[in-house]
Amino acid sequence: MKLAIKARKLKGSLTVPGDKSISHRSVMFGAIAYGKTRVKNILQAEDVFSTIHAFRALGVSIKEEKDTLIIEGNGFEGLKAPKEPINLGNSGTTIRLLSGILAGSNFSTVFFGDKSLNKRPMDRIAAPLRLMNVTIKGKGDKETPPLTIIGNPQLKAIDYQMPISSAQVKSALLFAAMQAQGVSTIIEKERSRNHTEEMIELFGGEISINGKVIRLNGGQKLKAQDLSIPADISSAAFFLVAGLIVPESKITLENVELNQTRTGILDVFTAMQADVQIEKTSGNITVSTSTLQATTIEGALIPRLIDELPIIALLATQAHGTTIIKDAQELKVKESNRIDAVAMELGKMGADITATADGMIIQGPTKLHAANVDSHGDHRIGMMLAIATLLVEDGEVNLANAQIVNISYPNFFKDLAYLRGEQ
Ligand code: S3P
Repeated sequence: MKLAIKARKLKGSLTVPGDKSISHRSVMFGAIAYGKTRVKNILQAEDVFSTIHAFRALGVSIKEEKDTLIIEGNGFEGLKAPKEPINLGNSGTTIRLLSGILAGSNFSTVFFGDKSLNKRPMDRIAAPLRLMNVTIKGKGDKETPPLTIIGNPQLKAIDYQMPISSAQVKSALLFAAMQAQGVSTIIEKERSRNHTEEMIELFGGEISINGKVIRLNGGQKLKAQDLSIPADISSAAFFLVAGLIVPESKITLENVELNQTRTGILDVFTAMQADVQIEKTSGNITVSTSTLQATTIEGALIPRLIDELPIIALLATQAHGTTIIKDAQELKVKESNRIDAVAMELGKMGADITATADGMIIQGPTKLHAANVDSHGDHRIGMMLAIATLLVEDGEVNLANAQIVNISYPNFFKDLAYLRGEQ
């Protein structure tokens, strides 16, 4: 796809689509609760379609009525053996959380995915699920998909200190723990997004959270709910950064989910002295073009902005000084190796980025120039490069594999054109 030649200021207000993490979970909770769950503003994108496809293959009725998705759940025991291996496309969240959901089933399931998903490590869920007496096997040491799970209706509760910070692993274990005999304790390395914990409570379950220590009783029954999903801060992030770095811009992103475990990028904006106004009650965030200062991003902040690091790296190329990102080795096992992909692709455009073992060192500010770049089959790399293009004035940027944005944001290019006054 050939992208914009010249910067043009961004103006206006936009509501980005529903949160991806909450959208996946709303289908999952709807399926394992009893009754009809009604979900408004679910993200209509390929990743969430993978979750919907999987639950249909497991015998759950999921229907669309006007703007509402209706999921008819019948508890964990309502899930039926699938007729064939289930294709989960690109979705790491689906394969990991669903493995926890099926841990207590009385049948076996095989999952596989696209080129990217089939390279992602599943040993992080396989090892703790085995401690609960689940039979689970992937390929090689990293247990990459295809992944076979043979459920065990007599699941053992688990006491588990997590070796990495991961909401997907935590959530898989919480789903399994809900079906186990006795009390499970999961201790997080650093606190990660807490949507699963919040939704257990919302659907009438009981969970105790004390700092990084989570306790949950097995044998809980959940009740169907009605919910409406707020806008995804991880999608809004691309335009928030665009508004800060494209000259003469001022834009508002509306109704953004401001859950504390997800708002690390707003802390980075503050540290960089960006011009940002946040209305806590509405979730409206307004950004204006800013003179930015470099910062260090590390430690407990990392899980609170993990998916935003590619676009934060672009932001750092426009900040004065040396921005350091560390403790972010998890970036290497996302939809692509995001440390290498960011350093390589923004490097082609003239950015000064050094990839390190657990992050990046970025010198700024630098002028970006035209180049042929590649999304690496990663939606967040593709969207970041499209935003980088807004700063290019010397020619055309060619973005290979741009349609990958459909994984989380099918209208991304349309919404970008709207903020640029082209529609
Ligand atoms: C997610 C958790 C994060 C995140 C992913 C969505 C979730 O992954 O990167 O996009 O919805 O639980 P990890 O659990 O691997 O950190």
